Amino acid sequence: MNRERIYSQEGHLMLGNVDSVQLAKTYGTPLYVFDTEIIREKAAAFKEAFSRYPVNYQIAYASKAFSTVAMVQLVDELGLALDVVSGGELYTALSADYPAERIHFHGNNKSEEELRYAVKAGIGAVIVDNFYELDMLSNIAREENKIVKVMLRITPGVEADTHAYISTGQEDSKFGFYLTKGDAEEAFRRTIRDPQLLLIGLHFHIGSQLFTAKTHEQAIQALYEYVDQWYKTYQFLPGIINVGGGFGIRYTESDLPETPQTFIGAIVECILRECEQRNLKVPEIWIEPGRALVGEAGTTLYTVGSMKSTREGRTYIAVDGGMTDNLRPALYQSKYEAAIANRFPSESEKAVTVAGKCCESGDILIDSIELSAVKPGDLLAVFCTGAYGYAMANNYNRLPRPAVVFVEAGEAQLVVKRESYEDLIRHDLPLKKRSQIR
Ligand code: LLP
Repeated sequence: MNRERIYSQEGHLMLGNVDSVQLAKTYGTPLYVFDTEIIREKAAAFKEAFSRYPVNYQIAYASKAFSTVAMVQLVDELGLALDVVSGGELYTALSADYPAERIHFHGNNKSEEELRYAVKAGIGAVIVDNFYELDMLSNIAREENKIVKVMLRITPGVEADTHAYISTGQEDSKFGFYLTKGDAEEAFRRTIRDPQLLLIGLHFHIGSQLFTAKTHEQAIQALYEYVDQWYKTYQFLPGIINVGGGFGIRYTESDLPETPQTFIGAIVECILRECEQRNLKVPEIWIEPGRALVGEAGTTLYTVGSMKSTREGRTYIAVDGGMTDNLRPALYQSKYEAAIANRFPSESEKAVTVAGKCCESGDILIDSIELSAVKPGDLLAVFCTGAYGYAMANNYNRLPRPAVVFVEAGEAQLVVKRESYEDLIRHDLPLKKRSQIR
């Protein structure tokens, strides 16, 4: 959390120049609040980073980080392309009237139904992950009488320095065609010879929440060894290299990721170097940031409820959400920073543990954080929850999912309604008597 926290004169935390206490009153808690100005700034920083180089580029927002109709509309407004990873994300994008030709479809097990939906909608590219999909897509393209643009997802065999669950570039991965084992070459050969498919580029994504471009550079170097060989063998040079996402953000003070400028600079320069050394045409460069665009823009507001202190001196403060609206601490032991939002920070802070309300001991949002004189009814702001917060929210313990509000320049707008109890049972059907079951 590298951003200055701004408080109103009454000591209320301001988000996008909107009073957080007022937001909580109007929309209730827990509440996801996105400062869209920050999303704009992040998008501009990536664009600026590319504009320093004589290259064509595309920035696609990885919508798995946070996909809603309003978010997709903002992405469109910002002129970014869009990645989807399921029929549901594709449906969200198309419902937001996002142009299909700027959508790319990822995933290691796209169903036939999903692929057909994407082909019929005329999306910009399918990022093919495996041979099963390659065959299925080719058949669908023939049946639909279309030529489908594809990229191949390559597993470059580099180890990202991040949590194992979000590391994807290593040899033993469920994603992609292995580069060094001949799979990638076979996929390349099959695709360029398939009349239904048009190979527009190669893709890799090595992991998430990375702090430097080191592994992106290693992957580019590994990939170019093969791109060069394949060019000599097949006289085909992919027009696009898509280096995925993974650009880390500053959840806590100890997270020190490179800036977009440094990240992109290193990636572009590495590609330029590889091309120059091998005398190859420079490709268009694509990236797919998710977290880096929306993570720092999001803050979750909670109301503090019960509190207790153990004999060993730990103070638990429980909030009205938890692993249902932010699964990341339970799943990846992720760290967050927080502050009391309804009064100024004070000198006399005390370490507390922020617990969620789920019936599970592991439902701890923050293991230890210094907060000033917390009491029931206080408003707690947890920062940097914009990526993979709402996206991974769930109804464990039948907790309704929170609302989402966008704030900017003093104005707030509701973009996702809070779920109601009725929503929770919307798809439930009553038990039939045994005699009624056929
Ligand atoms: N491109 C591909 C192909 C991906 O698989 C991902 C993320 C991205 C782009 C975007 O990565 P980002 O820029 O957001 O790091 N639920 C986890 C993150 C899983 C990421 C999966 N793939 C978390 O909460 O940390």
